[in-house]
Amino acid sequence: MKKVVVFVVVLVFAFSTVAMAGFEKCQGCHNGKVAPDKAKLVEKLKTADAFVKAAKDSKSPMMNAAKANEADLKAAAAELGIK
Ligand code: HEC
Repeated sequence: MKKVVVFVVVLVFAFSTVAMAGFEKCQGCHNGKVAPDKAKLVEKLKTADAFVKAAKDSKSPMMNAAKANEADLKAAAAELGIK
């Protein structure tokens, strides 16, 4: 029984992660505590190219998953209104 519950929880979590788009994926860290929040990123990075480049150049190992997905980075930039 316990295994079924764990399985369902994992499944729901997996789907909700897929369903998240744009900056939602980043907000867990980019909340102004762990990493710069929306306002800080918008202030510093003026173009989508600069945004994607800064994300890829980040030395933080926490950015590894985000770096691997350029489409996500671009979607996040678009959501923040960076062109
Ligand atoms: C697991 C936590 C985590 C997640 C998830 C995450 N980031 Fe980051 N990100 C960081 C940390 C930590 C840094 C380094 C912050 C610093 O240098 O002050 C960083 C740096 C960056 C930078 C460079 C900022 C700068 O000032 O140069 C950008 C751009 C960025 N992230 C974008 C994103 C985007 C877009 C996503 C979602 C697709 C994302 N991040 C998801 C933790 C995360």
